Amino acid sequence: MPDDRELERAQQEEREYQDGGQEISSDRRKFLERVGWGGLVGFLALNSLAFLRFFYPRVLFEPASQFKVGFPADYPPGQVNSQYQREFGTWIIRLPDGSFFAMESKCTHLGCTPSWMESQKKFKCPCHGSGYYISGLNFEGPAPRPMDRFKISIAEDGQLQVDKTIKYPGVPGKESNEVYPQSLLRV
Ligand code: FES
Repeated sequence: MPDDRELERAQQEEREYQDGGQEISSDRRKFLERVGWGGLVGFLALNSLAFLRFFYPRVLFEPASQFKVGFPADYPPGQVNSQYQREFGTWIIRLPDGSFFAMESKCTHLGCTPSWMESQKKFKCPCHGSGYYISGLNFEGPAPRPMDRFKISIAEDGQLQVDKTIKYPGVPGKESNEVYPQSLLRV
């Protein structure tokens, strides 16, 4: 039979064990509370940001659809000018007879950008090999029709002006100079 001192020691150990357990569960509760509050604050912050974003204007900066490209005298006859290709997706072309037209620098197959090959006097698409004459008429590769043109005119200040809102889409097998004489500007 355990004597009184052993019994007392056992009861003391039992009390200490319970106190320790309460301490641990109290720490754990605090930790969970912090995690809970942290999650709630994060959630509210994200929702507030999404709410504010709703009022921020979604502005899409696109190049102008009408733009000036300099004076006619800047363009020697018989040349393709690629200066406005990157920004406006347009070539300014002056035919040997002095007339101008503006052509969209976009292959009519799948939309790649062809390059003007001065030595071969043709546009060549790097994607699948379509070829076009200087007029935009396709003659090789999978392109289904000539490249499209935009309206070109003379602005009040005497500069050439391209208007991309007026488009002359290439017609399969047809020369755009004939289908769209209005796409040619004679100065
Ligand atoms: S995109 Fe030009 S040939 Fe295919």
